[in-house]
Amino acid sequence: MEDKIRLCSVDDVAEGFPCAVNPVGFIALAVFRVANEVFVTGNLCTHGNALLSDGYQEGDVIECPLHGGAFCIRSGEPVSLPCSERIPTYEPILENGQVFIRRA
Ligand code: FES
Repeated sequence: MEDKIRLCSVDDVAEGFPCAVNPVGFIALAVFRVANEVFVTGNLCTHGNALLSDGYQEGDVIECPLHGGAFCIRSGEPVSLPCSERIPTYEPILENGQVFIRRA
């Protein structure tokens, strides 16, 4: 079995337009672009039932669409209430214009 799992193409992700992906065996994930960097986080807000990929990205901060809480895309740490629990982050692997993460 492959040791990594493909999420999307780098070109699928523009700054401000995160890509929602649901790889088999993983929780829902979001792929973000910040300038020339790519980040992968869990896509579910830890405050409630909302997809962060539907939220509003400002640089390396993603604001949840439901109650306006926010997370740092780089670290997963909450940066604005009512969010107080971090979201998971995953190290992206970029190969041939594709975004992968390591299989758990
Ligand atoms: Fe995200 Fe409430 S569900 S801030």
